[in-house]
Amino acid sequence: METISLQTKNTTYQMGVTPNGFLLHLYYGKKVDCNMEYLLTAYDRGFAMNPYEAGNDRTFSLDVLPQEYPCYGTGDFRTAAVNVKNSQGVYGCDLRFRSLSRSEEKYQIPGLPAVYAEKGRAETIEITLEDRAVGVEVVLKYGILADLDVITRSAVIKNTGNEEIVLDKVYSASLDFLQGDYDVLHFYGRHGMERNMERHSVVHGIQSYGSKRGMSSHQHNPFFILADSETNEDHGTCYGVSLLYSGNFNCEIEKDQFNQIRMAIGINNEMFAYPLKPGEEFYTPEAALVYSRDGLTALSQTYHRLIRYHVCRGAYKEVRRPILINNWEATYLDFTGEKIVDIAKQAADLGVEMLVLDDGWFGERNDDFRGLGDWTVNEKKLGGSLAALSDKIHSLGMKFGLWIEPEMVNENSRLYEKHPDWAFVIPGRLPVRGRNQLVLDFSRKEVVGGIFDQITKVIDSAQIEYIKMDMNRGICDVYSAVEGQQNFGKIMHEYVLGVYEFLDRLLKRYPKLLIEGCAGGGGRFDAGMLYYTPQIWCSDNTDAIERIRIQHGTSFGYPISAVGSHVSAVPNHQTGRITDIHTRSVVAMAGSFGYELDLNKISEDEKKEVKKQIRDYKKYWNLIHNGKYYRLHTPGKDTEMAAWNFTSEDQREVLLNVVSLDTHCNSPVTYIKCKGLKADGKYCREGSTRVYSGNALMEIGVPIPVVMGEYKAWQMHFTEC
Ligand code: DGJ
Repeated sequence: METISLQTKNTTYQMGVTPNGFLLHLYYGKKVDCNMEYLLTAYDRGFAMNPYEAGNDRTFSLDVLPQEYPCYGTGDFRTAAVNVKNSQGVYGCDLRFRSLSRSEEKYQIPGLPAVYAEKGRAETIEITLEDRAVGVEVVLKYGILADLDVITRSAVIKNTGNEEIVLDKVYSASLDFLQGDYDVLHFYGRHGMERNMERHSVVHGIQSYGSKRGMSSHQHNPFFILADSETNEDHGTCYGVSLLYSGNFNCEIEKDQFNQIRMAIGINNEMFAYPLKPGEEFYTPEAALVYSRDGLTALSQTYHRLIRYHVCRGAYKEVRRPILINNWEATYLDFTGEKIVDIAKQAADLGVEMLVLDDGWFGERNDDFRGLGDWTVNEKKLGGSLAALSDKIHSLGMKFGLWIEPEMVNENSRLYEKHPDWAFVIPGRLPVRGRNQLVLDFSRKEVVGGIFDQITKVIDSAQIEYIKMDMNRGICDVYSAVEGQQNFGKIMHEYVLGVYEFLDRLLKRYPKLLIEGCAGGGGRFDAGMLYYTPQIWCSDNTDAIERIRIQHGTSFGYPISAVGSHVSAVPNHQTGRITDIHTRSVVAMAGSFGYELDLNKISEDEKKEVKKQIRDYKKYWNLIHNGKYYRLHTPGKDTEMAAWNFTSEDQREVLLNVVSLDTHCNSPVTYIKCKGLKADGKYCREGSTRVYSGNALMEIGVPIPVVMGEYKAWQMHFTEC
């Protein structure tokens, strides 16, 4: 068997081509210098199908062998990566190896986000498979980021026949494991409580997680980990897969009759049936794979580096983002220009660097029944033009940012009056509403273009350094009012392409603009979106204690720099909980930091605290965003303390963060152990004369003071001395 090996610094990924051209998956894991074909076994298995060319050999069955890109129709009854329907409506294809090519550059994907790397720091392998009878060609693309230990995958499907075919299912990657006792870690949630980590063993049958909501969703995240059942934060084998895609997705994890496991991920095949005319191609989104043999922390840190330096882009990719104040929780839709300036003045006095004007500045948007789609400034409400407001904010020494929700329309708007057909509405049926709004058909170029023109006119009219791009409902009523349009199975995907096109055009036109993603908080928090927006509002839940759990789950697959996180008012607007302003800031600093309240309404002592927070964030920012992030506890599980620390790459600096989640009378002392220090290093703690050894900080820990009151927080900064 001819083998194809992809090597990174510490991992090997190997495939094999059988004499009949089947592409088998041989191995992915710790680096090996070995032909892994020996792992394959062959037995005559009951009810296992055999390809015709196997002749009398009943031991060769694709239902048992590990495959690289399994297709429906070959006798493999496990979950398929691809299923094609020909012009007669016949399902299935039989892909065989045709060729292999290598290039010195990382491939990119037209219209879709993809991992990038400088020339010479990544390579691409392309494997072409074909089924001449159906008339389909599949190019499997592998990006190899050797230094980072990352392998990316995507596929291009081409109709090479003379008649239209339909892609009924087309995943980005499929990974087979011959053996192992694995757990799946997935990140489920709801609005206001996104990305809770859940871990359970992989059982026989298919476990599938995904979204059909038109966005990657609050409910499931397109990031998964398969971990050996013994694996913990610091030890053991685990595999991650992150899909760079912001729409409907599915991840299927199947344990088969012989305890083999298949993990497959890609676009959700419900509401998907993509027609390809002769000569047309389809590009799948990209999946980024990481293997770690050093536990979950190492796996997360690889994803942090990958996304921070090889997915996120733009002027703010590596520099500190402005500390912002957003007026949403301070005013909701009820504000005037004067009120905004009032909020900005106080914030500027305390050191805040940017004012973000949230929802409500346009059209007749004084409640959430109207206005979306009318991207013209409500000068009456602002008491003047947007340029005048932006000038006032700039005269305070602040930058100015603006909220938009381009994909939506209210029926009560001028846009809907003029272009009712731009919204997803099925003729003859009443549309389903969400937050009183309908979704615009972003699969249509003229819709994207129409909204783009409106919004850029506003951006051009004033000095705007930041945009918060929101999306506040899921998509149903999938119907496109395009002449001749007959196949609605492509709309959900083309909608996502439309969103990416909108963002791409925005970034090309305003290369210095910082865009923060948002979808009712973290409903579209995925690696695809991070290609366009280097930070995403992590959740509409700003309660510090609940945020700890949300940010903990988020940290498994996404870097701290990606997490939009703000100090808000108490009692918290989502939970009614009261935490002190220090605790709120310690939690918000584990992200791209900001405020979301009227700072005129806090006490003088709290104002002093805010000034200090801003000084501290500026001081620690580099360590927080570019250092290594360590989860020290699972909130609410191991102890009543939540704890995490940031350690600089050179291990000379550590910022330990601790928050108490409960309080007791006569409480025992909790000792928190740091991670990632030099064992033999000596560390001084800021504000103290004591010297600690790295070993002691890591193995024995730091006593956390016993104090009165709930939800206390500590931030301790150590440097090598
Ligand atoms: C949902 C967002 O997550 C909030 O932060 C805010 O921008 C509102 N939408 C505005 O409608």
